[in-house]
Amino acid sequence: MMSRLRNKVKSGLKAVKTRPEGGPAMTVSTASDQSPFPKAEGQPYLRFLKNLHLHLQPDWYLEVGTAQGASLKLSTSNTIAVDPRFQILQDNLGKRPETHLFEMTSDDFFASGRAGQLTDRVDLAFLDGMHLFEYLLRDFINAEKLCARDSVIVLHDLVPPTYVAAERDWDKARTKLWTGDVWKVAVILKETRPDLDFRVANCRPTGLGVITRLDPSSTVLEEKYDDLVARFMDMSIDDYGADRLRDLLNMQRANSRHFHDFVGVPA
Ligand SMILES: C[S@@+](CC[C@H](N)C(=O)[O-])C[C@H]1O[C@@H](n2cnc3c(N)ncnc32)[C@H](O)[C@@H]1O
Repeated sequence: MMSRLRNKVKSGLKAVKTRPEGGPAMTVSTASDQSPFPKAEGQPYLRFLKNLHLHLQPDWYLEVGTAQGASLKLSTSNTIAVDPRFQILQDNLGKRPETHLFEMTSDDFFASGRAGQLTDRVDLAFLDGMHLFEYLLRDFINAEKLCARDSVIVLHDLVPPTYVAAERDWDKARTKLWTGDVWKVAVILKETRPDLDFRVANCRPTGLGVITRLDPSSTVLEEKYDDLVARFMDMSIDDYGADRLRDLLNMQRANSRHFHDFVGVPA
């Protein structure tokens, strides 16, 4: 029995000896706090995002997932922010021509068609809502439709710092940072949308995916959505291969000298 359990423990999991109160010692498997690959240690993601705002000067900025407003604060453009539970701090409200806050899930927001009533194009989108890959995949599909070819979509949290952080359930007792399994969206986009320019910026703490050469008319991801969700739902980093994922993410330097590698790509 015990050897069967040990056989099931993959390299991303470790066996921990524990003794329930009064009970016999037993071994349980638990995802390890080891890093699957080198950590994202470059410039902080908010600094990179700030540079993006300065460089692109977007007319309209869309943000999915706002929380306390640390990323919202960076926008001086017309802004649409979506979060089912805003906790925006007074200091992060910022000033801009128009700010539209939608306190709802991103699925409900996109289904409402409200974005299209506000603007005919989003120039910069930051997707940082629910950290489960199927949610981020839907957010990407929906956001791309609002964009133009030369717009930029940024995805947060593609580089999990530990195996625990990459679990689908956020165990707050074991990890403060939670990326969930949105790394799968990087794999999906690389495999399914080779037409996109997709790079991962080495921004701490969990990387930023920067996507250009968008195609708002593309239906590829929608058509494959159900199959992709079924295929990736139970896949772990070890199933995919940590080395393979590290190579696919291929984190690039993201300091100011390398900034144009991400957005200097002609459309
Ligand atoms: C990591 S926080 C966003 C942090 C913020 N972008 C920043 O950089 O400071 C994630 C946010 O996503 C929101 N969220 C959770 N589920 C969501 C959903 N289905 N649609 C949109 N936002 C969601 C949460 O309420 C939370 O505030």
